[in-house]
Amino acid sequence: MGTVEGLRVSVHLSWAKPIKNIHSIHRFKVQQLPIMAIISSCTASTLKGAAVSLRSGNLVAFPTETVYGLGVDATNKDAVSHLYQVKGRPTDHPLIVHISSLANLNKWAREIPEYAIKLARAFWPGPMTLILSRTHLAKDFITGNQDSVGIRVPSHPLASALLKEFEGQGGLGVVAPSANRFGKVSPTTVGDVFEELSGYLSPSDLILDGGPCQVGVESTIINCTQDFPEILRPGAITATMISDLIGLQVNQIATGSNKSLIKAPGLLQSHYAPKAKVFLSTTPDLGDGFIALSDIPTPPGAIRLASPKDNNEYAQLLYQALRLSDTKQISNVIVIPPTGDDIAIAICDRLEKCAYKG
Ligand code: TXA
Ligand code: MG
Repeated sequence: MGTVEGLRVSVHLSWAKPIKNIHSIHRFKVQQLPIMAIISSCTASTLKGAAVSLRSGNLVAFPTETVYGLGVDATNKDAVSHLYQVKGRPTDHPLIVHISSLANLNKWAREIPEYAIKLARAFWPGPMTLILSRTHLAKDFITGNQDSVGIRVPSHPLASALLKEFEGQGGLGVVAPSANRFGKVSPTTVGDVFEELSGYLSPSDLILDGGPCQVGVESTIINCTQDFPEILRPGAITATMISDLIGLQVNQIATGSNKSLIKAPGLLQSHYAPKAKVFLSTTPDLGDGFIALSDIPTPPGAIRLASPKDNNEYAQLLYQALRLSDTKQISNVIVIPPTGDDIAIAICDRLEKCAYKG
């Protein structure tokens, strides 16, 4: 059992999905090391405790529909600085502010273009982040010194309830990067969060268990500081969905000499990487991992890591499959990327970033 601001909460070591390093968790328990509380069945009172904990400057990892986030109070400089340390992330990489509803957008953003309001009305709550000009509330310590701020209204019921409770207690927003160490694969289950961060969180921090994430890849990031929207990171909300809605041309982030004017340092070429070397579309050797849609048979001698039936399931399972390659100590993973102009674009983006460059 653990204590959250006077509330007793269960520390569950049984998981929504079986996790790979269960032995290390038992070792952890046996040695009686300090451990953050993992709350598996969130109630109104545990959420209240989690919001109090955030307001006190602690870290709370929570599920969103995309990936798990590691949250702190977006206005608390010390807490944000601690968050950067826990993630091992350079401080010029800006954070996304999570709010409970569009109604609170004006607190954080100004000069909001008409098309951004349309996007927010259509796709929030949901897997979309808007980059907008910031108000005085969005300090340099969350924006990486940029004049813009990233805002998102997540749709996962637990995230939504936590944000509402936090705001009800006077909070204004929660910054939450993906709950992984910098450069690593984003977590999509509570077991992944534990695996990534248990060594870095303290007993006053919390992990909320909301089951496996439905989308599985991070939100679409759209730069809305210009006349036309520009996708900085593809996700479940696609360019077609955006242009169909607002009737404007949508730019995709350009690389090379045509780089976007906006600085999005988290969008590095090497990211989301497991320990294994990831290769796209080559023939596997004996003992190599293999990820492809279920209608593609496993080549002889390869170890199947995921067989998604469609592109949505591909996104849902991708990070789990990459993590599994580490658990199985596989050296090379061969991936057959999906095709299409839906979430396949986001999957291919992440695959290119984690692909072996050597
Ligand atoms: O789905 C998601 O967006 C998840 C969940 C937890 O909400 N969060 C997430 O956060 O992916 P993070 O910190 O892992 O990635 C945020 C990305 C980074 O690449 C960062 O550079 C970019 O958003 N970003 C944040 N604020 C920005 C800004 N003002 N201008 C440009 N890029 C920004
Ligand atoms: Mg991330």
